[in-house]
Amino acid sequence: MISSKTVIVADGEDAKKSAGFLNDYFNEFYGIKLKIAEKTTSNFIRLTTKKLFAEGMNDAYSMNVSPSSINIEGNTHGATFYGVQTLIQLLPVDKSEKLKIPAVEIDDYPRFKYRGLMLDVGRHFMPVDFVKKYIDFIALHKMNRFHWHLTEDQGWRIEIKKYPKLTETGSCRNGTIIGHHPGNGNDNEKNCGYYTQEQIKDVVKYAADRYITIIPEIEMPGHSSAAIAAYPQLSCFPDEKTKIAKGVTWSGDSTGKQVQQSWGVYEDVYCPSEYTFNFLQDVLDEVMQLFPSEYIHIGGDECPKSNWKRSAFCQNLIKEKGLKDEEGLQSYFIQRIEKYLNSKGKKIIGWDEILEGGIAPNATIMSWRGESGGIAAAKQHHNVIMTPGSYVYFDHAQSKKEDSLTIGGYLPLETVYNYNPFPAELDSANQKYVLGAQANVWTEYMSNPDKVEYMIFPRLSALSEVLWSQKQDKNFDNFLSRLQTQYHRYDQWKTKYNAKGIHKGE
Ligand code: ACM
Repeated sequence: MISSKTVIVADGEDAKKSAGFLNDYFNEFYGIKLKIAEKTTSNFIRLTTKKLFAEGMNDAYSMNVSPSSINIEGNTHGATFYGVQTLIQLLPVDKSEKLKIPAVEIDDYPRFKYRGLMLDVGRHFMPVDFVKKYIDFIALHKMNRFHWHLTEDQGWRIEIKKYPKLTETGSCRNGTIIGHHPGNGNDNEKNCGYYTQEQIKDVVKYAADRYITIIPEIEMPGHSSAAIAAYPQLSCFPDEKTKIAKGVTWSGDSTGKQVQQSWGVYEDVYCPSEYTFNFLQDVLDEVMQLFPSEYIHIGGDECPKSNWKRSAFCQNLIKEKGLKDEEGLQSYFIQRIEKYLNSKGKKIIGWDEILEGGIAPNATIMSWRGESGGIAAAKQHHNVIMTPGSYVYFDHAQSKKEDSLTIGGYLPLETVYNYNPFPAELDSANQKYVLGAQANVWTEYMSNPDKVEYMIFPRLSALSEVLWSQKQDKNFDNFLSRLQTQYHRYDQWKTKYNAKGIHKGE
């Protein structure tokens, strides 16, 4: 039994960090604070890191619970941290109960090494406190990547010192449509927000302390209306005013370039000019200073080619570079950025559209339009992260009758749980290119943290098992019975969740 007399034994800085996480959890949810010491003799929780398992099993840990002690041993410091998360999962959910843990012996390791969750803060800005909470949710589910979608048509969210207008102008829109696109009116409220570089450094450290890497996404060449509103020269048509989508009710000034107020895909995209490439390289220089991640996500999805088609500059460039067409121009764009980032020791991730016109040589593909992009990329021996819409888009409705507005789509818990990130079409030789999977949380119809929580829970818990459990060990009924306890844990966290929409067809 754990009591205020139990000592957490942690030797070294990393073990102390994990011990601190556990102690903060005890303090916040059970009102006890334990002593953290380097040595003890009885009644302890000991966190140790040592090479126990074979190469490639970095995230493996073991845990042994006896009447007087709990031993957690990880293959790496991150793995020890995962053991701590398992201990947390074994704690009783009722605060008044004694802190008894079942006597267990666990050897555990994840099926996939990339275990991600994305958050779109472009459509709706989310405050730093919530971003940290979201990172805690990722940690509590033993996942290890936070994909931070920082730039969009509706808002630019990261301070870039060299281009102050990105946040002065690009982080604000003058209103937001009401209801489904194109909406039935506009709320006429200014909607603003961005993260300062100091805040970003703080969040990056917060995540690193939880063994989570943040992958920043700077979208290009599409989804760039907010940047263009700040610096119109980024467009091939700097003097044309921003087009307002049909049926959208606009709020405020509609002259010149504007930050978009509704959702969807817009034609005014980055022009592949030297001005744009210099701008993007400068932006990426600052991004690389802030994020130690080896990967930078450069977007690449949903870039209409209509402006490039009617631009004399683009047509000349296509000829001059000997490109086939506008798809070739997109490929040229991404490859040029990849080359720049590779020269700085970074790798790119792009949405599966970057396969069109020829994939950049070292790119990792995020497969979102189903699994086909991921399958094609793996067959070309490129790494792949699976994020197919019909399995892991957490902006889709959980039940057929949702209480609130969602973007559409339908993704009950059972479908998430039964997802297998290895597509049947890939033989075992090519399966190794599938690094893992990620759920995407696009926030067009999530204007606040409560709604985000409602959309991710309980589906995030199902995704965690997709990423950790071997296929033959998964059982949805068994998961559902354990989920009853997890609901109490969500209550304990004071987290919103949706207990409906469990089975297919509901
Ligand atoms: C995407 O959902 N447009 C990647």
